[in-house]
Amino acid sequence: MTNTNAIKVMLVDDEDFDVARVKNTISLSSTKIQVDCVVSNGKAALENIQQHPDSVDVVILDYQISGGLRGEELIRKMKEADPFIQIIVITKMTTNTTDFDFANNLLKAGAFWYCTKYPGNIEDYIYQPTDFILSIVNAFEKKRLEKQKLKSDKRLLQSLENMLEAKNIIGDSKPMLLLREMIEKYAKSEANILITGGSGTGKELVAWNIHLKSRRRYEKFVPINCGSIPHELIESELFGYEKGAFTGAHGTKAGLFEIANNGTVFLDEVSELSLSAQVKLLRVLQEGEIEKIGRTGRLAVNVRIIAATNKNLSTELNEGRFREDLYYRLNVIPIDIVPLRQRGNDILLLFKYYLEFFSKDMGISPPSIDPKAQEILLNYKWPGNVRELRNVAQRLVLNSTDHIGVKDVSNPMILKNSVLSKDNSIDELTTGQVLTLREMEKTFRLKYFKYVRSISSSDANAAEKLGIAPSNFYRMCKELGLK
Ligand SMILES: Nc1ncnc2c1ncn2[C@@H]1O[C@H](COP(=O)(O)OP(=O)(O)OP(=O)(O)O)[C@@H](O)[C@H]1O
Ligand SMILES: [Mg+2]
Repeated sequence: MTNTNAIKVMLVDDEDFDVARVKNTISLSSTKIQVDCVVSNGKAALENIQQHPDSVDVVILDYQISGGLRGEELIRKMKEADPFIQIIVITKMTTNTTDFDFANNLLKAGAFWYCTKYPGNIEDYIYQPTDFILSIVNAFEKKRLEKQKLKSDKRLLQSLENMLEAKNIIGDSKPMLLLREMIEKYAKSEANILITGGSGTGKELVAWNIHLKSRRRYEKFVPINCGSIPHELIESELFGYEKGAFTGAHGTKAGLFEIANNGTVFLDEVSELSLSAQVKLLRVLQEGEIEKIGRTGRLAVNVRIIAATNKNLSTELNEGRFREDLYYRLNVIPIDIVPLRQRGNDILLLFKYYLEFFSKDMGISPPSIDPKAQEILLNYKWPGNVRELRNVAQRLVLNSTDHIGVKDVSNPMILKNSVLSKDNSIDELTTGQVLTLREMEKTFRLKYFKYVRSISSSDANAAEKLGIAPSNFYRMCKELGLK
């Protein structure tokens, strides 16, 4: 009867006596081991493995088989055909000085183990049965573990690929190409990085990408928002505590640095750290050790730090709110992310990307965008950067808009910001001369009215957008010299 959980053995031996001996030893010792096939030459054994990979767990190979392939070469070819197969060599070799080299060569070729047949009296002509059986069981265990490891490696690789896709950085403008280059380059190093950039520019996304491309990619990425942890809790959050360290410490708590060990810590809004927390952080960076509250002795941690801020850290430094020594420790590699409005056509790329992303989520096809609406999107200043753009795209998809027209991107928020930020430079308004307040207002109103008209279906509609009566709108247009 075949046992499906049995260890499947192939016996490669051309001496009937040995075949019988091995079979006998096995059947007397274990029902879990099953000699499935017996082959009398190396070539046939190899062909069998090549044609049916994974059908054999353990090969018991007589080193001295006559004919066909032999020894190390055979072992190598068998492992090539089935990398998980385990090979135990049996040999008539006696213990002598060449024994070590012999065994070494077998193991190097990929054999799992070897056993000697004891020469001499026919009754002694036997393997040490327990060692022999044990080596088969161990060989099988090795195969099982190797297969398991491959599975989990594949899973890890798959989840890494999924992560990389989810954390994809969109954009092919020059600053983004440079940014990508920097990520590739610096991910390989272990140096600390300080990312600066306005709100929503993608600081955390960049930190993720660095982590996923670093040698720490299979370890944890632990983001810590320094601004959101209350000052009195920061130490216990970052470094943890031992049971009984203070009233209320009922158990041991691992701090975020301990959790991130071997991985990456992302210190977001690092400028928000109190000066006392900065001292402790400095110690981690200098000595690679943390002081857990209530614990005697320090705990070694190995983390890479990526910090981010949307404040100007050198101002914080000059005004004494940020430690200079910490600043230089963090700012080994500076990465500055440019605002979205400086990325040109990336705005449309990102907008289309997010329309598609959210549409897919809802199982609908993404809306098209009117060229005039594209123009508005391109000229808008995006003070909230990519996060704002993402929200606008999401809102449009949620509203089930199937074609995005001028009106859709002219809601009060985006419209207001777009006009104000489009023409908000004093230079543009005054072209060098100093205007009275009234003149300035007139210039601004003129531009604004022109703009609102260009995105309105009628004058009544423009008046509605401006929140004034049509009659007032006509009067003002006349005053401004608009038809
Ligand atoms: N180049 C980009 N491609 C695709 N998505 C992006 C890009 N940049 C940012 N995003 C997305 O925009 C959102 C904001 O990005 P992120 O949180 O990284 O910004 P941030 O700089 O950390 O912002 P804040 O300063 O507000 O914390 C996220 O959803 C992020 O995935
Ligand atoms: Mg952030």
